[in-house]
Amino acid sequence: MKNLNTILFGTFLAVGSFISFNSCEKSGSCDETNISKAGDDDSHNMGQNCMQCHTSGGKGEGCFTVAGTAYNEAQTSTLNSGTIELYSGPNGTGNLVTTVKIDSKGNFYTTASVSINGLYPAITGPTGQKQYMGSALSSGQCNSCHGVSTGKIWGN
Ligand code: HEC
Ligand code: HEC
Repeated sequence: MKNLNTILFGTFLAVGSFISFNSCEKSGSCDETNISKAGDDDSHNMGQNCMQCHTSGGKGEGCFTVAGTAYNEAQTSTLNSGTIELYSGPNGTGNLVTTVKIDSKGNFYTTASVSINGLYPAITGPTGQKQYMGSALSSGQCNSCHGVSTGKIWGN
């Protein structure tokens, strides 16, 4: 019984320290501003759905409204510059609602308040060529589809 008690007590300690460790971790605050700029290199996790963590109560810094990763045409490497724009109409028509810069790692992200539903994305690649998404958005979590159920976002 002595051994069993030791094991049980050890488990209790392990669970206890696990819980207190977690409660000390910083949880995501939607007050933080975190917006990509040209040349920035402090982002990470290219290709992952940023909003798995950058959301209310998540561990990422800031709650992103629009975020994702852009690649070259062959989808083999990330872009290191370029721009994402969201328009109210297809193919660059209507109003330009939001502009988000692609950083040096291919990531783009913003915590700015944007009403995503019905907006149409466009990418301008490093050479200035523009490409448009043909359908309207219902989510700003670009990497929840791109690289998963459809090709990666790419630009030239
Ligand atoms: C698995 C969780 C997770 C995912 C997925 C994630 N992040 Fe983060 N992110 C974090 C955490 C935690 C921090 C704060 C600590 C740190 O800097 O690593 C953070 C911090 C950041 C920062 C601030 C870094 C700084 O030094 O100021 C940026 C920018 C960022 N993330 C961008 C992104 C982008 C863009 C994506 C998607 C391509 C993404 N993150 C995906 C968890 C994540
Ligand atoms: C619900 C899934 C989904 C989400 C979310 C999504 N896309 Fe798309 N996207 C698609 C599909 C499918 C296509 C190809 C068909 C089309 O153009 O509608 C596409 C095409 C594109 C294209 C044209 C092809 C290319 O890569 O140059 C761009 C640019 C684009 N999306 C950017 C974005 C951006 C930026 C976001 C986030 C703000 C985003 N998409 C969110 C599904 C999605």
